[in-house]
Amino acid sequence: MQDSSESQDVENSLAADEGSPWLAAKFQQTLDMIYEKYKNVEDGELASYIPELGKANPSNFGICMATTEGEVFTAGDWEQEFTIQSVCKPFAFQMALERHGVEKVLKHVGVEPSGDAFNAIELDERTGRPFNPMVNAGAIAVASLIKANPVEAGIDAFVEKMGKAAGRKLAIDGAVLASETATGNRNRAIAYLLLNSGIIDDAVLETLHQYFAQCSMLVNCKDLAMIGATMANIGTQPVTGERVFDFQLIKHVLAVMFSCGLYNYAGNWAFEVGLPAKSGVSGGICGVVNRQLGIGVYSPKVDAQGNSVRGTLVCKELATHFGLHAFDFSNVGSSFMQWLQ
Ligand code: DON
Repeated sequence: MQDSSESQDVENSLAADEGSPWLAAKFQQTLDMIYEKYKNVEDGELASYIPELGKANPSNFGICMATTEGEVFTAGDWEQEFTIQSVCKPFAFQMALERHGVEKVLKHVGVEPSGDAFNAIELDERTGRPFNPMVNAGAIAVASLIKANPVEAGIDAFVEKMGKAAGRKLAIDGAVLASETATGNRNRAIAYLLLNSGIIDDAVLETLHQYFAQCSMLVNCKDLAMIGATMANIGTQPVTGERVFDFQLIKHVLAVMFSCGLYNYAGNWAFEVGLPAKSGVSGGICGVVNRQLGIGVYSPKVDAQGNSVRGTLVCKELATHFGLHAFDFSNVGSSFMQWLQ
């Protein structure tokens, strides 16, 4: 059972085939309702272990949903830019898979949920590899695989690819990059553990620069939604029509987002939201409804796991309201977006 009469309204309207403009308005109304419902939630804290992130405005709150047909719905501060942080990780993983193939990449990183914090200084003791590409250890291993010589070329390649998925040119926030570089000793410890274990080569500083720069790329909610929609649209950017991601590899990335994207909350996320997604400590979440839409949410106060408090609430509500959970019995989410066209 859906948990509100409004969700019942949406389902009834789908069944009644009342036409797309009315449904698009209804969809927007629901987004506005969800925004209003959570805009005053004040739980969580700004991440401040990267000092520059502590300067974010805690009241910022934006939501965007983009369909695979290129239709966009927004609420709140959807234009507010923030650094992507860990939301870069699945797309860097995609890039590594495209460049090196599955077999080689899996020699450097596993695909097993760790159940531990994103910044744990650990390897999977059964395999000697980082658990997965969503935790810092795995993401640093992936950064090593996509770095280039000179290092700026590898960073540019990543930013350019992400810009193609977002549908606009993206850039690095130099202040956040400097802040993370100055304070990222935990990641340096992880990188040297990886070097010691033969997971990365000895260009450790270059690998860390690639990783820190990826995390410091500026996006807004619409960018995250469009990047998610590009994944949902099996690799083709919905508006520009450009093929950005190799469609044969997307299933691997979505699977790891589903099982590991929310770190030590991933099991609860799969249970309650049921969507492949990735969170970042700056407060962004990118979700994918396969073949249907991308979701981008931003609010900078995060919980103990480093996941946006309001962002998590919004994703839960959207999934429940529209039946987006991958295993929802009514499977509404796998068909209802077509009604908006
Ligand atoms: O490496 C770090 O700690 C950050 N650049 C990214 C961490 C992050 O976003 C974790 N997500 N919740």
